[in-house]
Amino acid sequence: MPAAIVAENLTKVYVRRRSLRQIAARPLRAAERVTALDGVSVEAREGEIFGLLGPNGAGKTTLLKIIACLVLPSGGRALVNGHDVTRDDRAVKRSIGFVTSDERSFYWRLTGRENLNFFGRLYGLEPAACRGRATELLEAMDLGAMADQQFLDYSSGMRQRLAVARALLHDPPIICLDEPTRSLDPIAAKHLRRFAVERLNRERGKTLLLATHNLQEAEEMCGRLLVLHRGRVLRQGTVAEVTRGLPGRDQYVLAVAGVAEPPRDPRWAIAVDNRDGELLRLSASVDRDGDALSDLLRRLLDGRGRILSCARREPSLQEVFDQIEAGGGGGGAAGARGAS
Ligand SMILES: Nc1ncnc2c1ncn2[C@@H]1O[C@H](COP(=O)(O)OP(=O)(O)O)[C@@H](O)[C@H]1O
Ligand SMILES: [Mg+2]
Repeated sequence: MPAAIVAENLTKVYVRRRSLRQIAARPLRAAERVTALDGVSVEAREGEIFGLLGPNGAGKTTLLKIIACLVLPSGGRALVNGHDVTRDDRAVKRSIGFVTSDERSFYWRLTGRENLNFFGRLYGLEPAACRGRATELLEAMDLGAMADQQFLDYSSGMRQRLAVARALLHDPPIICLDEPTRSLDPIAAKHLRRFAVERLNRERGKTLLLATHNLQEAEEMCGRLLVLHRGRVLRQGTVAEVTRGLPGRDQYVLAVAGVAEPPRDPRWAIAVDNRDGELLRLSASVDRDGDALSDLLRRLLDGRGRILSCARREPSLQEVFDQIEAGGGGGGAAGARGAS
């Protein structure tokens, strides 16, 4: 599949503005420079859902903004549908819709329809075409019934769907979503995720670039992703490729009966979380490779235990980062340049 987005060795250095008071206190001090992106290379293919995964401050928004021509890179190159972001911003902007989770970007006293008409005109749509497009998108986003209500009366989920409608006004093939579920409750978040996958990606064939700090969200939605940390790509590939081969151990939660004490072995560490009569609830951290898990379960059974449940606990994003960092992840054993 052709590349929708290609970034090569992108860097972004911000110069942090100092307040008047800071300048007055230390007039000669040089302005602080923040490296938000430090040599980021990435390629997202046409029609895929590609994730940018990273904690706060990783550089996700900066990367999306460069791709959407909202911020200029300090170095490197980014192409959107073959157009260079620094040379051909009109063509890039035509190719991209940007969904932020920042509600302040709408006019709160205007209705959803009025907001879309306003932004549509800003994007250069003719008035009649703009009105038609707004009506069509309000219906498509299940906002028809709320179209003529003020934005301030919208729920968080509706606001976010209106942000998606706004990004679709000029019908771009690529949609950037910057933490679209950040302010949503779990049910609204689930709806929005499903909407993005089924309606935007599968039905309309949009390429989605999704920034998120939520590993589960990335896992559920993205075919491939990159893990960004302090402006660098730690890993890139499918979810399995990104989490596979992490140094360290897998975490399991077990409920066992008929065992007085859990077995000891250098290949695992077990903590007893709770004792309830003969029922033990255990947290086990087990070597990932080899037969460690089988041996642990066998030892429990051989000791006349009964295993009532055994579940692998998915590592949290923080644990993934911790493990990658502990393993000297900067270079990315699984390939910062991405297995595909
Ligand atoms: N306009 C700006 N001026 C100065 N520093 C900025 C600016 N925007 C972002 N940064 C800094 O750049 C880094 C990356 O920020 P950002 O791209 O917003 O990360 P993320 O979206 O992953 O949270 C952070 O350290 C942030 O403080
Ligand atoms: Mg951000």
